[in-house]
Amino acid sequence: MAIGRPDYDFADPSRLVSAVENIHPSIIINPAAYINVDRAEEEPDLAFAINSRAAGAIAAAAEKLRIPIIHLSTDYVFDGNKSTPYFESDPTAPLGIYGASKVAGEVAVAEANTKHVILRTSWVCSPYGTNFLKTMLRLAADRPELRVVDDQVGAPTFAHDIASAIADIVLKLTTAPDAQNLYGTFHYASCGETTWCQFARAIFEQSARRGGPRTNVTAIATHEYPTKVRRPKYSKLDTTKVFDAYGIAAPNWEAGLETCLDQLLAQQPATHGLIR
Ligand SMILES: NC(=O)c1ccc[n+]([C@@H]2O[C@H](COP(=O)([O-])OP(=O)(O)OC[C@H]3O[C@@H](n4cnc5c(N)ncnc54)[C@H](OP(=O)(O)O)[C@@H]3O)[C@@H](O)[C@H]2O)c1
Repeated sequence: MAIGRPDYDFADPSRLVSAVENIHPSIIINPAAYINVDRAEEEPDLAFAINSRAAGAIAAAAEKLRIPIIHLSTDYVFDGNKSTPYFESDPTAPLGIYGASKVAGEVAVAEANTKHVILRTSWVCSPYGTNFLKTMLRLAADRPELRVVDDQVGAPTFAHDIASAIADIVLKLTTAPDAQNLYGTFHYASCGETTWCQFARAIFEQSARRGGPRTNVTAIATHEYPTKVRRPKYSKLDTTKVFDAYGIAAPNWEAGLETCLDQLLAQQPATHGLIR
């Protein structure tokens, strides 16, 4: 069962506990979040209400029912000053309100429910909603050139792979609910790493092969594309722990991209599924 807006606005977490009690689930997955990194600077209370207080309330409701919670989190809990993949044990140091509210959410979930799986992922794309991949394809339709930052490194990760990983986690938690190594914080992200610019070029190369939009991509530095909040320069996540505990290994990001574009460009050939 899925709950969310308009029936339940997580900005007001007070009704979430009774919602969980009424449904009486055997496990909870919480991907809901305030995700606008720049706008969060102007709406910190809302970001913290959804990303921290609602997350904590749901985790507490799960604890009351003695069931586990899987909570989605982000690479933006880190400042990006490392140059090798981040481990779960590395100290968090968010660069803005969004990251800070997600750190607070992780703490709230962990404190409320010992049976928690906090799953940090990165650079999420899918055929649905709004994301970097869809924005690139939409802009390519009428721009001869796009300028994209080439000095932020990470791993594009695709929603279908995250969903599949969560399904594997659910299965294992259900069959071995008392295995302590299954709980805690884990990193799940595609293998390999790239920059936003190289990712954009790969998107257009693969899109063109499928008859979709393409355009030229010019590499720029972060300072040439100023944003309200600094993004981590490097946010590759080490995924050894989730492999050791769950046997889950994400595919390379290029493979995820191919699957995503197959779905997206096959959806509505006339518009390439890009109207939203
Ligand atoms: N995007 C990334 O690159 C990225 C990277 C790392 C981690 N993550 C994490 O992945 C998870 C999913 O994020 P996403 O990027 O895939 O974003 P998304 O598709 O926009 O998902 C966020 C969900 O949260 C819901 N939500 C937001 N505000 C709400 C509210 N007040 N009440 C109820 N529901 C609300 C949204 O519902 P509506 O449909 O009603 O808007 C939406 O379904 C988040 O925990 C995020 O922190 C994302």
